[in-house]
Amino acid sequence: MRVFLTGGAGYIGSHTLTELLGDGHDVCVYDNFANSRPAALARVRTLSNRDFEVVEGDIRQGDRLAGVMRAFQPDAVIHFAGLKAVGESAAFPLEYYENNVQGSITLLRAMDAAGCRRIVFSSSATVYGEPRQARLDESHPLAPTNPYGRTKRFIEEIIGDWAGANADASAVLLRYFNPAGAHETGRIGEDPRGTPNNLAPFVSQVAAGRRDRLKIFGGDYPTRDGTGERDFVHVIDLARAHIAAIDYAMANRGCEAINVGAGSGVTVLEMVRAFERATGRAIPYDIVDRRPGDVPASVADPARAQALLGWTARFGLDDICRSAWNWQSLNPDGYEGVDPEADGKP
Ligand code: NAD
Ligand code: UD1
Repeated sequence: MRVFLTGGAGYIGSHTLTELLGDGHDVCVYDNFANSRPAALARVRTLSNRDFEVVEGDIRQGDRLAGVMRAFQPDAVIHFAGLKAVGESAAFPLEYYENNVQGSITLLRAMDAAGCRRIVFSSSATVYGEPRQARLDESHPLAPTNPYGRTKRFIEEIIGDWAGANADASAVLLRYFNPAGAHETGRIGEDPRGTPNNLAPFVSQVAAGRRDRLKIFGGDYPTRDGTGERDFVHVIDLARAHIAAIDYAMANRGCEAINVGAGSGVTVLEMVRAFERATGRAIPYDIVDRRPGDVPASVADPARAQALLGWTARFGLDDICRSAWNWQSLNPDGYEGVDPEADGKP
């Protein structure tokens, strides 16, 4: 199949790209490198020993996007491109609406122009907001609590309307829980700019000595040990969910929202202990005040992913921590200083 990846140079995009190439698909990556580096794509090239197209461009550039898409003639699009920092989205909401929502409309128009009506979209469990039940299924009400989450909700609805208006359209909205981990080779992984907002990269950097201590946000939640509980899903499992979603989109019409999570909860302290096992190092931490906007627990009911996509998570918490540590220890500064030319040779 011919698959078009917006945001394919990013964390989840680069892992999905590797799996797509490994399965023999032809890929075009379209990315403006706002939050990623060409070095990641060079690494994928050596890792998979396969070539693929790369176009530097912004999804808001409609004519350019449509031209690239018409030339590539994709069977399906996976739409990763977007801004994803919750705090930043509260400070700069219009940036988020413009980049994520306007960018997605431009993308759908370009798809129409190129005659491609299959899309897999990177949504998030953040669309559910405050959980009303222990495990969230897709019928849980949508009530995101920040502008980033609202962009995901609006894009889901826009894609749903687009699919409703086109009888030949097929859309899968993948609601990711908490992606973590890295490719087993340690050649690609998560490379956040500045101070990581998310737990797993922060803990990795503490283990590596790049940061002194972890702040655990809240020790008084109604969970097993008082710390927040999340559903961590290995990024390779997540990548495989995209491939299953494309297969589903090839065979079906309409628009489906599907949770992508392991279906089991891990507390922040359990994550810290798992990292200590994986690294053999102590992770110093302090328990501090809750982070505003955090929910106590967020765990997927992944039954629909199993039923519709035949997908379940294969990797567990220890695999996540081992692979994250492998990436972190082999690349203490992420892709910083990696020469995209030198690494790009098969
Ligand atoms: P990422 O920042 O590593 O990747 C996003 C990619 O999109 C980057 O390469 C960036 O340069 C590119 N991009 C951003 N705006 C663009 C634009 N206007 N035009 C072209 N390219 C653009 O993030 P990620 O963690 O790989 O996440 C991928 C998608 O999954 C995002 O949409 C994110 O909101 C969603 N998501 C991520 C998580 C997570 O925890 N990582 C959870 C739920 C949903
Ligand atoms: C966050 C975003 C969510 C987004 C997801 C993936 C918020 C409120 N939610 O989810 O919208 O989809 O990232 O990008 O920001 N923690 C610490 N110390 C840290 C970092 C995190 O204790 O330094 C705790 C948090 O309080 C939480 C858990 O670890 O209990 C997971 O946090 P994080 O990795 O940021 O993910 P989410 O908050 O689930």
